[in-house]
Amino acid sequence: MTDSMTEPSSLLLGNIGRLFTGDGDVIERACVLVEHGLIAFAGPEAELPASAVPPGTAEVDLEGRLVTPGLVDAHAHPVYGGDRFEEIALRSSGASYPEITARGGGIASSVSATRAARPEALEGRVEGLLRAWLDSGTTTLEAKTGYLLDEQGELGCVRLLARCASAPHVPSVEITFLAAHAVPAEYAGRADSYVEAVASWCPAAREAGARHVDVFCDEGYFTLEQSRAVLEAGIAAGLVPRIHADELARTGGARLGAELGCASADHLLKVDESDAVALAAAGVVATLAPVTALAMGTSPPLRLLRRAGVTIALGSDHNPGTCGTTSMPLVVALAVSELGMSVSEALVAATAGGAASLRRHDRGRVAAGLRADLVAWAAEHEGAFAWSYGLEPDSVYVAGVRVR
Ligand code: NIG
Ligand code: FE
Repeated sequence: MTDSMTEPSSLLLGNIGRLFTGDGDVIERACVLVEHGLIAFAGPEAELPASAVPPGTAEVDLEGRLVTPGLVDAHAHPVYGGDRFEEIALRSSGASYPEITARGGGIASSVSATRAARPEALEGRVEGLLRAWLDSGTTTLEAKTGYLLDEQGELGCVRLLARCASAPHVPSVEITFLAAHAVPAEYAGRADSYVEAVASWCPAAREAGARHVDVFCDEGYFTLEQSRAVLEAGIAAGLVPRIHADELARTGGARLGAELGCASADHLLKVDESDAVALAAAGVVATLAPVTALAMGTSPPLRLLRRAGVTIALGSDHNPGTCGTTSMPLVVALAVSELGMSVSEALVAATAGGAASLRRHDRGRVAAGLRADLVAWAAEHEGAFAWSYGLEPDSVYVAGVRVR
């Protein structure tokens, strides 16, 4: 029997000190009424009519805590074998990410380790990571393939993610097909042929459970033309396009994302003002990854993006090369200290922004009619995020079911 069958169908979360709605507003002394997994009422406690509460509703006293929408991690690479700690240590003594890639490290080394891993071991690792995401308050997570880089491996990776996503007590998982993460060794010197192959796998990826398609459009990875071919094939297969853009060099990925109507352009460390304007005009969300930016010793141009009016989302960019955290509360703290966001702006980016990045308009805010993905935090004010560098949830609800 699933937990949702044993839970009462309505739940009243009361005595919320501050309810951060995801729109940037805060409601004090608030409550949230949940019915059948959806928010039926969210607002000041004094405004909830007693008649609106169905008989038999379970009541929880949140003792003045801060409540936010469940956090959304809009960029992660959780399926990989092995680790790259040695190259990370090398990077710390001055070697750059491209230099390490040229020496056989980087994505290629994780591809070898992932291909060599036992499938059960990979799956077990992903299950553990998903639990860690949930335990730190992430209720929706984007998860990419991209460390197998052959047809059976990449499609198998989509299936693995779909299996993990169907387990109880995990975040909702948005599966992204990223077979165009790098050119695998067996296609060395034949990148166009690999791109053609990836394009032909998109319909099967969709069938297997992927919802998004992505490409690493950057110097040393895929050109604009190759990226366009992958994304157009994904779009034709019914996948939502997103793009790793202008991270290592300004090759035009953000512009391509705008032209193709991508849901999200990610990283954007090297974009200029005209790129930001193009993203805003096309309604492409900028998904920023502060931990990776920090690992690269740089920072995305937040002021330009903000001035252009681009919607911002945040991602952990969990991956074996640059970021091992699954903590979106840490990502929020770093968005404040490293990118220069306000706490409120960072929390909006980690909730409503993430939902926009994933084109999931049923979540990311606390409002009537939306999914009851909610976190009560071990604090009474959102400023705690920028102090604790890893604020802990007190309780986590996914579609109204308490999962932590
Ligand atoms: O988002 N940029 C491409 N992919 C990852 C890094 C992948 C890796 O180094 O394994 C990223 O940063
Ligand atoms: Fe990435």
